[in-house]
Amino acid sequence: MRVLVTGGAGYIGSHTVLTLLERGDDVIVVDNFANSSPVSLERVAGIAGRAARLHTVDVADEDALDAVFTEEKPDAVIHFAGLKAVGESVAEPLRYYRENLGSTFSLLSVMQRHDVRTLVFSSSATVYGDHQNAPYREDGGFLDAANPYGQTKVMIERILTDLAQADPTWRIALLRYFNPIGAHRSGLIGEDPRGVPNNLAPYVAQVAVGRLAEVGVFGDDYATADGTGERDYIHVVDLAEGHVAALEHLRAHAGVRAWNLGTGRATSVLELIAAFERASGRPIPHRVLPRRDGDLAQAWADTTRAEDELGWRAQRGIAEMAEDAWRWQSGNPQGYETAR
Ligand code: UFG
Repeated sequence: MRVLVTGGAGYIGSHTVLTLLERGDDVIVVDNFANSSPVSLERVAGIAGRAARLHTVDVADEDALDAVFTEEKPDAVIHFAGLKAVGESVAEPLRYYRENLGSTFSLLSVMQRHDVRTLVFSSSATVYGDHQNAPYREDGGFLDAANPYGQTKVMIERILTDLAQADPTWRIALLRYFNPIGAHRSGLIGEDPRGVPNNLAPYVAQVAVGRLAEVGVFGDDYATADGTGERDYIHVVDLAEGHVAALEHLRAHAGVRAWNLGTGRATSVLELIAAFERASGRPIPHRVLPRRDGDLAQAWADTTRAEDELGWRAQRGIAEMAEDAWRWQSGNPQGYETAR
């Protein structure tokens, strides 16, 4: 299959591009490197033994994207490109709505013009808001999100649902990710956030490697087993394989449908820190701080639908996630920055 991947140089994108290359797909990456490095794609090519074709284009630039489609004639698209920092989205809502919705409109127009109607969209468990209790099910009803970033996911899911209802030839997968962590087992590609990480796993990894001093644990008074927040961490390679399973499903099924990509298991903040301590062999200093605004006590997936319909199930546990993340972080303490 010829698969065009927007945001293919990013964290989840690069792991998915690698999975596609390894199974023999022809891969086209569209990325503007706003929050990623081209080094990730060089590393992916090194691991796979062959490369994706790269177009350094902003997805929101409809004319430039149109030219890419004319040249590459993709069969399907995986759409990762977008802004994703929760706190930043609260401070700059217009930028988030403009960029995430604008690039999606541009992509959908170009796809329509070129008769490409197979799309896998990068959604998030954030669309469940706080209206349901874990485990979250895809058919749990009303979708909402606590911040503008999450709202862009809710809105794009709505737009894609309306589109598939208006034109039944579209084949659209809405993949609701839980908490992707870890790295490819080679340690050559991984998560490389700009600035101080917002998310727990990269923060813990940077403390372990000595880049940051200590982890702040955001609250230890939740109604959970150890009082800290519980999440469904999923290995990024399992997540990448979930995209391939969705693409395969879409070959045989038209319409639009949502699937959770999680493990169905919950891990607390303290358990994740302990897993990184074991993986790195180093103590990880941490201190309890007040709760972070907008955080839920618990979030994990009901994985039944993905198992039944996509035939996909996450294979890798927390120990492997921490070991692989540590191999990446210890081998690349400054991420891709110093690799050129
Ligand atoms: N946490 C800390 N210290 C930190 C960072 C996080 O204790 O420095 C805690 C949080 O309170 C939470 C857990 O670690 O209990 C996980 O937090 P993350 O920020 O890693 O992940 P979230 O579950 O808050 O957010 C993730 C994605 C969002 C997405 C959201 C809901 O980052 O994009 O899941 O699906 F919107």
